[in-house]
Amino acid sequence: MTAALHTSSITSLPLIARGKVRENYAVGEDRILMIASDRISAFDVIMDEPIPGKGALLTQMALFWFDKLDGIVPNHLTGDDPLSVVTAAEQAQVRGRAMLVKRLKPLPIEAVVRGYLAGSGWAEYKTNGQVCGVQLPAGLQNASKLPEPIFTPATKAEMGDHDENIDFDRCVEIIGRDLAERVRDIAIQLYRRAADFALTKGIIIADTKFEFGLDADGTLTLMDEVLTPDSSRYWPAESYAVGSNPPSYDKQFLRDWLEQATVDGKPWGKVAPAPALPAEVISNTAAKYQEALERLTR
Ligand SMILES: Nc1ncnc2c1ncn2[C@@H]1O[C@H](COP(=O)(O)OP(=O)(O)O)[C@@H](O)[C@H]1O
Ligand SMILES: [Mg+2]
Repeated sequence: MTAALHTSSITSLPLIARGKVRENYAVGEDRILMIASDRISAFDVIMDEPIPGKGALLTQMALFWFDKLDGIVPNHLTGDDPLSVVTAAEQAQVRGRAMLVKRLKPLPIEAVVRGYLAGSGWAEYKTNGQVCGVQLPAGLQNASKLPEPIFTPATKAEMGDHDENIDFDRCVEIIGRDLAERVRDIAIQLYRRAADFALTKGIIIADTKFEFGLDADGTLTLMDEVLTPDSSRYWPAESYAVGSNPPSYDKQFLRDWLEQATVDGKPWGKVAPAPALPAEVISNTAAKYQEALERLTR
């Protein structure tokens, strides 16, 4: 394995943006080199320590899913080799962890689909029996499977902020009815196909977030990473039980550790900077990402 990469620095291309995990570089006017670093975030705070192998695993997993989801909606992959757009000296930062994609105009919403009740969905359901304006049957528990997958959009938060759940009407106000309906229907189709496949490999995809953009012709296009454990809740099917949140596949070690971590004798307040991660948390987390990919692709 190559050395862990916390932050890429490609100087031969203009940097467009640094996200929580990826750096985007412009390749000409119409393409982006997206480099998945080994950074990990939890509670929306980026850790100082990278997780070795994570960026490459996420990229491989996204490519795997783009292939599986082929035919539902166009995606942003160009098929061009990411190594071909950087200098020889920069290739080590790119190899295995990058995608060379069409540069799209991102829709300012996150297309979340939930097949199970968890996280902010469960929290909202307990208060009003709904998630993002979708009325659900009474009597559901934490981690209950929903009768049908539901579309529960969110706004895209600025760096460091939390995304905000919105209802479908608000989504229509933001992107227009026609697009909102297409995004909803396509996102649900994508989720169904992925969740059905994952289940055959012993993984429950409880929920996931897709991002879409428009290309120069206005064609609705699937972008970003898809169906990675960073953008989805992966649960091992064998430890699934209604009533409690199953340990998620990826960040559970990290979250559990952070929940009990102290800084200057006080519990860490979930704002940057994060406490330094012990080696065990790093290696356990790396192993979980590896296991998720192996399960899906074996
Ligand atoms: N094809 C594309 N065209 C334009 N922007 C894209 C494309 N694919 C992904 N993006 C954007 O690239 C960024 C990926 O970096 P990431 O680290 O995941 O950011 P974030 O912290 O916002 O999740 C996201 O802002 C995403 O919306
Ligand atoms: Mg992202």
